[in-house]
Amino acid sequence: MRAVSFVDSIPTTTTLPDPEPSPSELLIEVASCGLNGADMLQATGNYPPPPGAPDTPGLEMAGTVVARGDRCRRFDVGDRVMAVVSGGGQAELCVVEEILAVPVARSHELGTIGGVPEVIATAHDALFTQSGLQMGERVCVHGAAGGVGSAAVQLAVAAGATVTATVRNPELRDAVADFGAEVIDPAEFVDAGPFDVILELVGAPNWPANIAALAVEGRISVIGVGAGSKVEINLVHLMGKRARIFASTLRARPLAQRAMVADRIERHVLPLLDSGAIQIPVAARFELSDVAAAYERFKAGGKFGKVIINP
Ligand SMILES: NC(=O)c1ccc[n+]([C@@H]2O[C@H](COP(=O)([O-])OP(=O)(O)OC[C@H]3O[C@@H](n4cnc5c(N)ncnc54)[C@H](OP(=O)(O)O)[C@@H]3O)[C@@H](O)[C@H]2O)c1
Repeated sequence: MRAVSFVDSIPTTTTLPDPEPSPSELLIEVASCGLNGADMLQATGNYPPPPGAPDTPGLEMAGTVVARGDRCRRFDVGDRVMAVVSGGGQAELCVVEEILAVPVARSHELGTIGGVPEVIATAHDALFTQSGLQMGERVCVHGAAGGVGSAAVQLAVAAGATVTATVRNPELRDAVADFGAEVIDPAEFVDAGPFDVILELVGAPNWPANIAALAVEGRISVIGVGAGSKVEINLVHLMGKRARIFASTLRARPLAQRAMVADRIERHVLPLLDSGAIQIPVAARFELSDVAAAYERFKAGGKFGKVIINP
């Protein structure tokens, strides 16, 4: 099969042996896969795959089941699925534990929805499972025009929260506002608070202001730190607000925990995707043979939504 490999840190289309599904795995012919910040880090050797995961990058994909292991029962050859994987998504073929696969309705384009699972799972886990977002609460999403941010804004709006989104690129603010959020420059977010939940997708520049912008009993979920990870905060201010800070990655979690994330996505988010209430915008799409350009587009920033590869 053709797959992405890093040659001297440059994403390159190479030929690798076809993966073989284990008894509990599905073999997927990949129609679309998304790029993520993790892929950029993996290219430079700064985010190696966890033990047991393939070296091939790609944390999300969608496609058609072409083979299945002996113990698989739920999905069969020909079924359309999507999944968050620990690697291997940026290839013509990808194996996934059946327990992580989520069905894809006929109404979705398989060639697009592979850019959805990682960002939806990350946003849902951070907002609801970690931060316990409730109807009527106020949320601030930093970095809201990106993949995770555009998912988070829509999920929070759908759940009945009031959403403020920080977007540094003025040209993208109207598009994010169309999801139902108040959209502001990142410099203005403290005055727009207080917030019950802050989703941090940018990192250091928003600290210590995040604590000033937090409501009493507020929660901050740290998910992305691309703009810096070292901050100084006054713990007294956290205490005074009875605040909580969560931080997480999805990729390294044990299989059982990732299966619970997939289950929550299927039960709580799939209906919203299927009804069209949530749509992840596609900023650009590329052929597998053009993978270096896809990575360059992701790194350039200033995009609305996802960069997709169609193997
Ligand atoms: N912990 C996890 O499990 C997990 C899972 C998925 C993603 N992540 C991380 O979460 C972050 C967001 O992911 P993503 O897929 O949404 O990435 P993305 O599509 O690149 O979006 C990042 C957004 O943040 C904005 N941004 C970056 N630096 C900024 C700064 N200094 N000030 C203001 N805005 C800034 C970007 O704006 P510009 O376009 O203008 O640069 C962009 O809109 C990434 O760091 C990613 O690695 C973590």
